[in-house]
Amino acid sequence: MQLYRLVYYSEAIDGLSLQDVKSIAEKASVKNASLFISGGLLYCEGKFLQVLEGGIHPVNKLFATILQDKRHKNINLIEFARVKRRAFEGWEMSLVFFPTSRDFQPEYIKYSGDLSFDPLSLDGDSCVEFLRNLLERKRTVLSSR
Ligand SMILES: Cc1cc2nc3c(=O)[nH]c(=O)nc-3n(C[C@H](O)[C@H](O)[C@H](O)COP(=O)(O)O)c2cc1C
Repeated sequence: MQLYRLVYYSEAIDGLSLQDVKSIAEKASVKNASLFISGGLLYCEGKFLQVLEGGIHPVNKLFATILQDKRHKNINLIEFARVKRRAFEGWEMSLVFFPTSRDFQPEYIKYSGDLSFDPLSLDGDSCVEFLRNLLERKRTVLSSR
């Protein structure tokens, strides 16, 4: 199977709660696993940054569904590219939530010259690396509990 990676940015509609976002991510991890899709979802200050990786058809089909989802808006495709390997192997859809972008400044500054959180200023590789960094931090915190 040829592997593809899709990266996009979007904004939550007004009134979407953290519980709503958690529920999206929980359902997503079940469906993504069944589609052999891996990836990560960052939610911060009402902004989403998501990476999806898997076969070309499942990823395209899922993104078509996500585009129709009324719980977010201003959806911007950042990258859709063929890749050699998964960056999120073993993560069906891991959610990372930060109340404010100040919480991830050490990771973000590695990829952006500007501290204000604007995923559209990053290229696809930087988005993937940034999100992976955040997931690694989450894994470290969880495993040290
Ligand atoms: C920001 C955002 C990210 C989402 N990510 C996924 C995802 O990775 N996988 C998924 O199955 N659904 C995801 N969804 C939900 C889908 O839009 C859709 O509701 C879900 O796939 C169920 O679709 P279905 O009822 O047609 O199977 C996401 C929704 C939003 C708003």
